Amino acid sequence: MSLAAAPRPAEAAVGADPAIRVAGVEKSYGTVHVLRGVDLEVARGSIHALLGANGAGKTTLIRILTTLAHADAGTAEVDGVDVARDPQRVRRAISLTGQFAAVDERLTGRENLALVARLRHLRGPAAVASAALERFGLTDAADRPVAGYSGGMRRRLDIAMSLVGDPRVVFLDEPTTGLDPEARQEVWSAVRELAAGGTTVLLTTQYLEEAEQLADRIAILHRGRILVDDTLPALKKLLPRAQVEYVEKQPSLEDVFFALTGEREPEREHEPERGPEPEPEPENTEKESDS
Ligand SMILES: Nc1ncnc2c1ncn2[C@@H]1O[C@H](COP(=O)(O)OP(=O)(O)OP(=O)(O)O)[C@@H](O)[C@H]1O
Ligand SMILES: [Mg+2]
Repeated sequence: MSLAAAPRPAEAAVGADPAIRVAGVEKSYGTVHVLRGVDLEVARGSIHALLGANGAGKTTLIRILTTLAHADAGTAEVDGVDVARDPQRVRRAISLTGQFAAVDERLTGRENLALVARLRHLRGPAAVASAALERFGLTDAADRPVAGYSGGMRRRLDIAMSLVGDPRVVFLDEPTTGLDPEARQEVWSAVRELAAGGTTVLLTTQYLEEAEQLADRIAILHRGRILVDDTLPALKKLLPRAQVEYVEKQPSLEDVFFALTGEREPEREHEPERGPEPEPEPENTEKESDS
């Protein structure tokens, strides 16, 4: 792998010292050329969404960035460290929340968090767990087994666990897949809170609304490359402004009423004294005589 550091226009927007820098990354599985030269930069403290169809290679790219897979070509740096050269250092700076929640259902939320804190050799695992529970609104459910948690609570716990030890860069692979709208909102606010605290977030999603709601920038992975990478307003400018749309208006009961009663007008002409509102008739006759 060579250190390709050719300046690109994206650098101006992202800054000189991005949290994630991917250049020319390629990856094949057998004859399937999944990534064909991916370039991507993620600014520190930002939320960057990676969109793409099923099988586009989103998880593959996340796996390379989190040192779980090797790229065939190109370079990838996380927090200024080359993932291929020093995977250990990269692992200390990051966390990964995979496509499927990694919580232990038999343990309580508090126990899950304390376990992760101990695995990460943190001092005071109990205090770390309490702080995380508080931060993600799980204090009330802290001492219940996770098996009884809702989908949203489970995801929040999963994210809370991945944040134990305050990683500087967080990878979330489809954090809200399978969640109902309310649970999705809960996860979104957790992610927003993360970024507000200075953590960099790269997330993949199938939900365009999720990217719209959360992301500072949105990259679309398509046919092995990043097709576009920009802010939502800039992406919207890529399409011509919508023409004024012709919308077929369903008639209201009022429209029906007036149309029907209008048809009866010629009949009423013979008996004008019975009509409650005689004024439309002279108007109509005027128009008819104009044309
Ligand atoms: N370990 C592997 N062995 C063989 N093929 C793989 C492996 N991992 C991924 N692939 C293939 O690489 C392609 C990209 O897969 P990947 O999981 O990265 O896509 P994705 O964008 O994350 O899709 P999804 O939206 O379904 O999660 C797919 O064709 C997949 O079958
Ligand atoms: Mg995936």
